[in-house]
This record gives sequence, structure tokens and C-alpha cells, in this order.
Amino acid sequence: MWGGRFAEGPAAVMREINASLPFDKRLWRQDIAGSKAHVAMLAAQGIVSAEDGAAISEGLDRVAAEYGETLPDDLALEDIHMATESRLAQLIGTPAGRLHTARSRNDQVATDFRLWVRDAIDAVDQGLAAFQRALVTRAGEHADSVMPGFTHLQVAQPVTLGHHLMAYYEMASRDRSRFNDARTRLNRSPLGAAALAGTGFPIDRAATAAALGFDGPTDNSLDSVSDRDFALDYLMAATQCALHLSRLAEEVILWASQPFGFVRLSDQWSTGSSIMPQKRNPDAAELVRGHAGRIQGCMVALTTTMKGLPLAYSKDMQDDKPPVFEAHDLLALSLAAMTGMVETLDFRIDRMRAAAEMGFATATDLADWLVRQADIPFREAHHITGRAVKLAEAKGIALDRLTLEEMRDIDPRIDARVFDVLSVDASVAARASHGGTAPVRVREAVAAARRQLGMD
Ligand code: ARG
Repeated sequence: MWGGRFAEGPAAVMREINASLPFDKRLWRQDIAGSKAHVAMLAAQGIVSAEDGAAISEGLDRVAAEYGETLPDDLALEDIHMATESRLAQLIGTPAGRLHTARSRNDQVATDFRLWVRDAIDAVDQGLAAFQRALVTRAGEHADSVMPGFTHLQVAQPVTLGHHLMAYYEMASRDRSRFNDARTRLNRSPLGAAALAGTGFPIDRAATAAALGFDGPTDNSLDSVSDRDFALDYLMAATQCALHLSRLAEEVILWASQPFGFVRLSDQWSTGSSIMPQKRNPDAAELVRGHAGRIQGCMVALTTTMKGLPLAYSKDMQDDKPPVFEAHDLLALSLAAMTGMVETLDFRIDRMRAAAEMGFATATDLADWLVRQADIPFREAHHITGRAVKLAEAKGIALDRLTLEEMRDIDPRIDARVFDVLSVDASVAARASHGGTAPVRVREAVAAARRQLGMD
């Protein structure tokens, strides 16, 4: 394609290091679509004849049909763009040579890759919506199941399991909004920027942009061919999303461990050990946690590739695709796996409740009660409550199992009404502030989310 000025062909290793076909063949659908939009515009503008335009367009359809069966793999073809053009030339002859008029591979690849990332964003959005539906469904089932809430991984205050699951719903909502932002910024067409400076041909960039579903053309040709922000936006959103999935995976792993025993993984989502017959390992959750590291690695790889590049295109930029493809595959798998796990987790709410009760999770409720009912300053109430916890701990019982006499020995201002607030159920019911863990609030949040997701 570019051999006119060379006497010798490339060295074998040159060919190998130069070729992106092994990975960029994944762009074939976008490449065909981009070429068809380009040639239709060339014909409409009278830059190529109507006959040549039609021959090229039909030829591209034939190449696409072949790609549906098998994709090219000859490294001499270099990349998917050249492979397509060379196959087109074999199929339709001379007119094929007119396709690349007023275009460079630099604007071509930038266009193809944007189209691919746009599709990837749409796929992730669907995956995130499915994940949210799973969370919301399980949260609705457990709007009043009590579990310990933690800070420092120490039992802090009782919360509801539904509330805990809805926290991940919120994270997923922000993830969707980040991907959506990225999509909005991405959706401008670089096609027609040509190699770097634009073109002297009377092209119509608005037409190709519209044909490819872009909101319009990009505004600076140098930026158009050297910008990979859209890929980085995708990777950064993917990193954040994977980070959220990884935190949930970590909780599933922790909760499935015997000392916690908060969940039992379904058979479908656990694996056995080849030596220890009792094992039910949370491998999928561990891999979601592991994949988050790899996805972040992809983001670091491309930011590092891009940070030192002068304008406009440099071949380093060919390395933009493997990290995006890898991150996308890992994220899609992680999302599907987390969704499957959430749908099928067997929550052991008896164990959760017992852990909340034995962890003195209602100590704050006792302190708050002393402030409200006995007008004791919070610091003093904190101290009195600390003594009650110490006694309950010494006796190995929950706070609400202390007798009234034992309580009054600690502070005579305590009376029988205190028992109304010491149970974990009373504790969660009391936290009905906006965004609080009370079952009424959780049910509202679940209902709103179901509406948002079109589930009702
Ligand atoms: N395969 C190349 C890439 O992915 C296409 C662009 C080639 N441009 C060039 N000036 N050599 O980046």
C-alpha cells in the first residue's frame, strides 16, 4: 500500500512489530461502516463517480460478509484498514483505489476506535443496568433484615441488608453516569481530519458524522487524529466501575468465610478444592477483585503511552487498542459474574442479626437515649454506655439482655423505657433520616430505583 518509494520489503521482525491486525481486526465492523459512510460522501460530493462509489460500497458489503465467516490474519496486511482495502481491490479491481481519497488511516482509525468504544459503553450500560436490577431485587427482599454495619471492620451500628445492597446500587448509578458522560464527549467524528491537517478535497464532514451517528464533526484536525481522551475516559470509568465491583466482591468473600457466615454462595458460583472436600471457594468473587487490578493496569498503560506524545499521530498510538479491548472484556465478565452472584446469594440473616446483637451495635442508641430522655450531655452518656457495654461483654450477652437493675447500678437515671431502643430492630427503625437505614427509607429507595430501571 505504501511501498512506492521503497526498494526492499520490511524485515520479518519489522513486519511483526508493525502489524496491528492480530488485535485490530476486532474493529472490522466499525471499519466497514466508516468506509461506507466515507465513500457515500465522496460520491455525493462528486469526488468519485456514482459508479465507482456504488462498486466500492457493494464491494465493502462483500468483504463484510467474508469477515462474518473468517477474519484475515496475514501480518503483511499490517492492519484491518489495509486488509480491507486490499481485499476490496481483489474483489472489485481499480475503483478500490479511490476509497482512500481525502482520508488517511489516522482519521480512519480514530473514527473506527471511537465507534467501537461507543458500542462498548452501550454494552457496559446494559450490564450495569442488569447488575442494578439484581441489587434492587435482593434489597427489596431484605429491606428489614438486620445486619451489623461496620466502620474499621468493627461492628458499628445495625443496618439493614437492603440498605447495604442499595449502597452498591448508588455506585452503579454513578458508574452509568460516568460512562454516559464519556459517550457524550466521544460522540464527534474525526473522519475527514485526514492525516493531520485536513484535506483540499471538497468533503462534507457533517454528512459522514451524521451517517455514523455522531453529533457532528470534531473541530481541529490535529486534535482529531491525536486525541485518545475517549479511550482514556472509557478506561477511567471502567477502572472506577471495576473498583466498585471489587469492593462488593471483597465483601462476598469475607461474608462467605466461616467466621462471618453471612452468606452461602450458590453451587453455581462456587468451586471445590481438589484436596479439601469441605471447600466452597468464592473464586468468581476473587477473580472480580483480581480483574479490577488488571483493568486499572490497562488504564495506567494507556495514560503512560499517551503522556509523552507530541502532536499529531505517532505509532505508539497503535498500542491504544489492546488495553481497551482487554479492560472491556474483563469488565463485561466481571459485571456478569457479580450480577449472577448477587442474584443467587443465600443470605444467612440469622447469622447477620446475631452478629449485630453480639457486637453491641446499639450502644449509640443507648447513649442517644440518655441524652434525649435524661438530658445527659453526650460525652457523659458515651461514658455511661461504655460501662454498660463492658458489663454485657463480661457476661457474654447482648446489650438488651442486661436487666434494668444492672443498668440502674451503672446509672440510676435509666428506666424501663430504655428497652424500647436497645433492640437492633428499634435501632434501624429509628434511623429514618433521609438516606438512613430504616426499613421505610429502604423501601422508598428500592421503589424509586425500580421505577428508574423500568422494573414496575
Ligand atoms: N494501525 C494503525 C493504528 O492502529 C493505523 C494508523 C496508521 N497510521 C500511520 N500513520 N501509520 O494506529
